[in-house]
Amino acid sequence: MKSVKDVIADALYESDKRFWKKIYNKEEEHWTEKEPSNLTKKVVNEYDKFDRILEIGCAAGIDTFLLATITKDKIIGIDITEEAIELAKKNLKEQSKRIRKKVKFEIGDVEHLKYEDDEFDFVYSLSVLHTTDINKSLKEIHRVLNDDGKAVIYVFIGKGKKELDPKKFMTVCKKYFNIDKKPEKVKTKDKEHTAMIVYLEVA
Ligand SMILES: C[S@@+](CC[C@H](N)C(=O)[O-])C[C@H]1O[C@@H](n2cnc3c(N)ncnc32)[C@H](O)[C@@H]1O
Repeated sequence: MKSVKDVIADALYESDKRFWKKIYNKEEEHWTEKEPSNLTKKVVNEYDKFDRILEIGCAAGIDTFLLATITKDKIIGIDITEEAIELAKKNLKEQSKRIRKKVKFEIGDVEHLKYEDDEFDFVYSLSVLHTTDINKSLKEIHRVLNDDGKAVIYVFIGKGKKELDPKKFMTVCKKYFNIDKKPEKVKTKDKEHTAMIVYLEVA
């Protein structure tokens, strides 16, 4: 029989899924048809090539395709929403053969990654983790990264309902990771929120 904790976790997972599904069904959100983000461009310019990348909350895959240019072996884009993964798979068909060979999209939840320990050497996530249980998400990211692994994570911060407290966020980051580069605070595109970018490394 399931424990009370598991029953609650399942209910929260289903409610998150419903929340994002509704958003995709409205087809209003910019991230379904956007250009690659500035942070993704920066990462692609500044980092050497990785063997295996995991992108969390890939939406329609636009950033995934750019990240594939710094991937030697494979990149997996995951998203909790089926509609997002369908869009991403549709968009993948329009990519070059070189990109198509490296990219895979799968439905997945960052709090319960289905990948092996040490499977990736880079994890990237833009505008996703502040809506998740940050402790579970960072623990899982740490688990799937190998000893040389790095992660770049962009979250909304602030005092709002779903926004993280920056100090708490940094405390959880430091629980699992070393800080690779100084974190950055930036304004979101709509200038209404503040976001934080953390550059993490396993060792
Ligand atoms: C605000 S959008 C950002 C999309 C994209 N990264 C971007 O910046 O354009 C958040 C995305 O994360 C996905 N998501 C939300 N919770 C998630 C979870 N627990 N695991 C994986 N993906 C999740 C949503 O379905 C949505 O596509």
